[in-house]
Amino acid sequence: MPASTPDSAQRVRIFDTTLRDGEQSPGISLNASEKLEIAHQLARLGVDVIEAGFPIASPGDFEAVRAIARQVEGPVVCGLARANPGDIDRCWEAVKDAERPRIHTFCSTSDIHIEHQLRGTREDVKGLVRASVAQSRALCEDVEFSPMDATRADVEFTAEVLQIALDEGATTINVPDTVGYAMPQEYAAFLTQLYALVPDLRHATLSTHCHDDLGLAVANSFAGVQAGARQVECAINGIGERAGNASLEEVVMLLHVRAAHTDGLHTGIDTTEIARASRLVSRLTGYVIQPNKAVVGRNAFAHESGIHQDGVLKDRSTFEIMDARTVGLEVNALVLGKHSGRAALKAALEDLGYTVEGQTLNAAFKRFKEVADRKKTVSAMDLEALVTDELRAEHSGWELEWFDVEASTRRPPHATVAVKGPDGDLTQGSFTGDGPVDAIFKAINAATGIDARLREFRVEAVTGDADALGEASVVLELGDPAAAVRTDAPGLLTGERVTGAGQAVATDIIEAAAVAYTRALSSAVVKAAALAAAPGVAVNTPTP
Ligand code: KIV
Ligand code: ZN
Repeated sequence: MPASTPDSAQRVRIFDTTLRDGEQSPGISLNASEKLEIAHQLARLGVDVIEAGFPIASPGDFEAVRAIARQVEGPVVCGLARANPGDIDRCWEAVKDAERPRIHTFCSTSDIHIEHQLRGTREDVKGLVRASVAQSRALCEDVEFSPMDATRADVEFTAEVLQIALDEGATTINVPDTVGYAMPQEYAAFLTQLYALVPDLRHATLSTHCHDDLGLAVANSFAGVQAGARQVECAINGIGERAGNASLEEVVMLLHVRAAHTDGLHTGIDTTEIARASRLVSRLTGYVIQPNKAVVGRNAFAHESGIHQDGVLKDRSTFEIMDARTVGLEVNALVLGKHSGRAALKAALEDLGYTVEGQTLNAAFKRFKEVADRKKTVSAMDLEALVTDELRAEHSGWELEWFDVEASTRRPPHATVAVKGPDGDLTQGSFTGDGPVDAIFKAINAATGIDARLREFRVEAVTGDADALGEASVVLELGDPAAAVRTDAPGLLTGERVTGAGQAVATDIIEAAAVAYTRALSSAVVKAAALAAAPGVAVNTPTP
């Protein structure tokens, strides 16, 4: 990695939007401590900017952005705001305590959006952009402006709008391919035209923001960089609206591996932190990484065919263009055994980048002992899974106390569960279901008195060994959100859909499934309660 400052001409800034655009993926709902944990990992990874959230969207989003601004050192911490005074004030409130805060405001420039979404005119857009960038600049020195849906907009009108944003003091101009429609040569040509039409653009940082609807997000981002952009907006594992954003790890490794052929374009990323960031985001969001995913997939460095294996055994360069260690994919096989003590666990966790003390260390130690009693060895991957699981346990709401389930091929399985409610009371429920997992999920519905329907359910093994920990992931939807929060729920619209996601790790996959379901239920009820409590307020404001 060439050492350089962000100001060197070939240095590409990495703007991570995992916690904003990424968090808008269906079924993802991270709590504040999960977002903070991801933000700390992004800082270790060395991203230049963390887009921490959309503060006006909900009180929870606001709190999470503020906590990241206050606690995460290193990167610029940015919040998103639509082009209106309320959004911008709220965004500034959330980011202002950061070492280096940024306000990112946006307004569409495509006629499709102006007509159908904003229901306004091009003149309205110019006025909104002038006022919102000026307001942002009065609050914050670092202001980014995005003309949303730019690639489907008239380039000359977009240029006019960008000139206004620059005149009002925008320091970064981001050009979104919002619907993932552009092709690389078109996207590059669009940026080149903007440079020609707006010479002042040379004094700002030009940025890419590409969606993956046609699988071109990384190619388009790279084309943008070749056209002069020096900031790339991307997300870990490529998560984001619909098909997602450009994947951070692919953009970074493309620039890293091909630096010699791109005049030394490079980033400030510590590539050895990529795999850990990828696992953490996958685990906390419940979005599993496809095995053949570039750079971080389980098979990204695996060789199956005889010819490939033969070649790699003779010399890795025959079929490998990068080393798994460069992206941090090779982790210690064995870290601890069942006789290891609290100090060894603390040191191992510190090695993995987690500072765990006090109550959390006690809880982690208890979990470690339970697992070590059942598994012969506890690897770095297991420890990482356990610590992130402890983080998830901080969700307020229902907790699974115990379950009994009998499985048989001759009778329908019957389950009984006991759950502790938010008020500390224990209730039990039973159900005879189609399978043991179905019986448990419905028994949890019976115990909590909440009608929820399963939308997605997955179980994965944390490591490849026979006694591997199981990691379960659940997305569910509340049947009747208003009944779930037991109020007259004035803020909940009839027919409103409220979903919740939960993940859990255990040596027993049925236990992991039951805990994940209980967490998903709690998260859906918390969401429904926020909606119910705030009629007419900007809770769950539609996100861009
Ligand atoms: O895709 C998009 O246009 C966005 C903007 C808010 C930058 O996410
Ligand atoms: Zn986007």
